[in-house]
Amino acid sequence: MRHNPKILDKVFWGAYTRYAEGQDITGAEKARVEEVLRLLVQFGAKPPQSVLDAGCNNGAYTLALALAGFEATGVDFAPGLLSAARRRAEELKVPATFGKMDLDSVFWYADGEFDNAICTSVLHSVRRPEWVLDELHRVIKPGGLLLVTTWLDEAGHREAFPQLFARPESEPHAGLVTRLRQAVKTLTEPQRRIHYWTSEEMRHMLESKGFEILYMDGAPMLTIVARSLDSF
Ligand SMILES: C[S@@+](CC[C@H](N)C(=O)[O-])C[C@H]1O[C@@H](n2cnc3c(N)ncnc32)[C@H](O)[C@@H]1O
Repeated sequence: MRHNPKILDKVFWGAYTRYAEGQDITGAEKARVEEVLRLLVQFGAKPPQSVLDAGCNNGAYTLALALAGFEATGVDFAPGLLSAARRRAEELKVPATFGKMDLDSVFWYADGEFDNAICTSVLHSVRRPEWVLDELHRVIKPGGLLLVTTWLDEAGHREAFPQLFARPESEPHAGLVTRLRQAVKTLTEPQRRIHYWTSEEMRHMLESKGFEILYMDGAPMLTIVARSLDSF
């Protein structure tokens, strides 16, 4: 069967939307959000600077950034997730902005429109990760920060979505997890290969896109803080 990325998006992210809407900013997710905020500030981001949250899901990071005083904009291509994010923003009375955007297409933002950007747990699932980094470099002001987290594949297994397959069948949302697994299995082999990197591959890819690596740590989820270089 010929692989159709649009159908994959619909099946996979449609199921994911319902899965993510059941999640809350608690426990492990809260700790990850706090760590991202801490790193941004440690490496020089200062409220009220602007931050683009590329692949914002249900808005956890965008809202936390806004609550910390940043001018936060979250974009995602899943309408259900964006509705959940907007609902949360209204409930919490947080002035965050959300927009529907496919990261694999041209970003509609101007050059240098954002002081900083984050792209957490997203790069491994877009179709054109190098393009997404080109666009992030374009929309971040020279000298601004990009924080990326991504699942690593240090052993070179090139397994798609390893964390998804590590989840126990018995957990809540087991039916949706099963559907997600089925959707992931429709990924073609080249896609699986493209979407998982070792930490050194990530370093080279970011450097080749005009970023200077300031911080790189963590496995199997790697966190990178990079500065966007001016003359690139
Ligand atoms: C694993 S979630 C990560 C969400 C959030 N950044 C976090 O760290 O919790 C991946 C997100 O990327 C979004 N996404 C995947 N591909 C995308 C694309 N091409 N354009 C826009 N959003 C995309 C999905 O809808 C989903 O919300």
